[in-house]
Amino acid sequence: MKSSIKLIMKPKWDEIEKIRNKSSNFLVSQGISNNSIQALTMVISELVENSVKYGKFLSPKNTVIINIHIDENIVTTEVINPVDNTVFKHLKKLDKTIQWIRGFQNPLEAYTERLRVVSKKPLNDEDSGLGLVRIAYEGKAILDFFVSEDNFLNVSALSNS
Ligand SMILES: Nc1ncnc2c1ncn2[C@@H]1O[C@H](COP(=O)(O)OP(=O)(O)OP(=O)(O)O)[C@@H](O)[C@H]1O
Ligand SMILES: [Mg+2]
Repeated sequence: MKSSIKLIMKPKWDEIEKIRNKSSNFLVSQGISNNSIQALTMVISELVENSVKYGKFLSPKNTVIINIHIDENIVTTEVINPVDNTVFKHLKKLDKTIQWIRGFQNPLEAYTERLRVVSKKPLNDEDSGLGLVRIAYEGKAILDFFVSEDNFLNVSALSNS
């Protein structure tokens, strides 16, 4: 079974709930189990939040694009947003975080380690840095990313449904 959906979102916080609902309706229509739907909507929310937080939306035409592909029991979510040079330090952190997660045998270890570090940080620290490890551990997903020549960041999460 192969199917996919493309959702387009304005980069605003209150749009995220609509995307969660649309994604979950699509996954229900494809017969995905409730547990997987919960995990996948968490993955989508975390990726979309990052896009809204770190993307560079210079023109009103700029949006966040969410592609969900299902192929047999593999679900891939891609979240795409525009970037520019000012986001470079975040792209480096994104790369470092993904590499760091890959260095653990088991994503639970990465998650536990991250929680330990976060618990020592001051409460007002904005970057709790938990989203991607949560995707890897709770979402049991493999993360990847690339930046296209025309400056769109594509972050993907692949998991078994
Ligand atoms: N879409 C993105 N564009 C640019 N940088 C990103 C993007 N997503 C993540 N990053 C970078 O990767 C870092 C880790 O992301 P992650 O979601 O794990 O943590 P966070 O967003 O800082 O905190 P939290 O998700 O817990 O609120 C971010 O701090 C940011 O620097
Ligand atoms: Mg985040």
